Amino acid sequence: MKRERWKTQIGFLLAAVGSAIGLGNIWRFSYMAYSYGGGAFLIPYFTALLTAGIPLLILEFALGHEKQGSAPLAFGLINRKWEWLGWWAVIFVMFGIELYYTVVISWCVNYFGYAFNLTWGADPNAFFFKKFLGLSGSPGEIGSIRTPIFFALCIVWFLNWIIVYRGIQKGIETANKIFMPLLFILTAILVFWAVTFKGAGVGIRAYLTPDFSKLADPKVWIDAYGQIFFTLSLGFGIMIAYASYLPEKEANITKNAILTGVINCGYSLFAGFAVFSTLGFMAVSQGKEVSEVVSQSIGLAFVAYPKALSLMPGGKLFGAIFFFCLVVAGLSSSISIIEAFTSAVVDKFGASRKKVVTVISILGFFGSIIFTTNGGLYWLDIVDHFLTHYGLVVVGILECIVAAWLFKVARLRDHVNRVSTIKVGTWWDALVRYFIPLILGIILVGDLVGEFSKPYGGYSWTAIIAIGVDWVLFTVIAAVFFSMRPWKKGELAPKKE
Ligand code: PHE
Repeated sequence: MKRERWKTQIGFLLAAVGSAIGLGNIWRFSYMAYSYGGGAFLIPYFTALLTAGIPLLILEFALGHEKQGSAPLAFGLINRKWEWLGWWAVIFVMFGIELYYTVVISWCVNYFGYAFNLTWGADPNAFFFKKFLGLSGSPGEIGSIRTPIFFALCIVWFLNWIIVYRGIQKGIETANKIFMPLLFILTAILVFWAVTFKGAGVGIRAYLTPDFSKLADPKVWIDAYGQIFFTLSLGFGIMIAYASYLPEKEANITKNAILTGVINCGYSLFAGFAVFSTLGFMAVSQGKEVSEVVSQSIGLAFVAYPKALSLMPGGKLFGAIFFFCLVVAGLSSSISIIEAFTSAVVDKFGASRKKVVTVISILGFFGSIIFTTNGGLYWLDIVDHFLTHYGLVVVGILECIVAAWLFKVARLRDHVNRVSTIKVGTWWDALVRYFIPLILGIILVGDLVGEFSKPYGGYSWTAIIAIGVDWVLFTVIAAVFFSMRPWKKGELAPKKE
């Protein structure tokens, strides 16, 4: 069977950008910039993009393209002993990150509906945690499924399934060709609308006024690198799979990597204007400081934003567009995860793509349910912490080692230069061989030290081990298991006599 291909280069680029731009761009970046020195944060952020983000994107694109395969196939072809690494990436992302990512998208679907009549009322905080999530007292108290979240989850998984089921060109490429322009237009509407709010200037000043003294803190630099890896979907096996569908002769790897990185980070910076104009508006209209109304991630989207929406004229429409953007940004990332896993199974076992997508969508759907319960938010928090901190970072380090040391980075560079218009020099070898593993190593050690000093997030050690640590362990075991199964097709399959 011939490998599927993107129809156009722009289709590939939009899909890569679609994976990279996700919830994190909207609710995490702007808060980081705000708290880590405003405009000054752009220095570590863009340094991280240039010295690690784009070089690693080039590496992942090159691996997928040169080997014409998903992560397990690419690593397996370099060295059969390292196939598990590819499996691990696609497994912890598919059967970890994806499971709660789809639940968060489901919250956004609900809030999209709530925006039309500001259902959260006067106390969005109580509404979100008590009424909507019905949050229990601890991760052990699972309680029952929250019906509105469950129904939205059905829609989200259905959309995921139908898009990936239709294949690379008809499904993923077409979806992103609709999603990405739509997202850019809607975000632009939000930004140009938000900057007209009274107090917008106050918010933007808080967001971008540079405070260079913050740059002396190593944590700011480390977190900038961490954010770059996450936001570019690196270490997840996604970019490897996407690049494997590029035509063999026509794949402008470096140009696509640069564009993906720049568009993704440019989008974050731009969306931050809408976020902080709104926060500025809220601060001014309540006679408070921006620092008193600001928050990040879940708190920003589901508490601070709803509060602001209730106060502003036109808040219903503004809110509906905002939550719709989150849904679109989320979906284009969640389909990339399913594709990374699907392509791995298809590569190794020669199974029919449609069957694989259907089976893992059903499994994924059921796996997500735990996160829709009363204890769901705790589970989400713990699993997210362990998988993004350890899964992503360890895969990143090992991926550099396997690609640069076992395969010889110069060979990959030759490949990149053969197919790309923009050539990379030996500086790239140095970044991939030494610099990126070193930075990721520092992040890893820092995280581990933090881990042992006290249990993450104030949870009990039992919860941390039973949920977080075990989740990581199970994904590693599953990866080793998958890698030990024989290949049914391709170069790694046993030769028939
Ligand atoms: N890059 C996405 C973001 O910034 C997140 C993501 C996670 C995408 C996992 C794909 C897979 O939100």
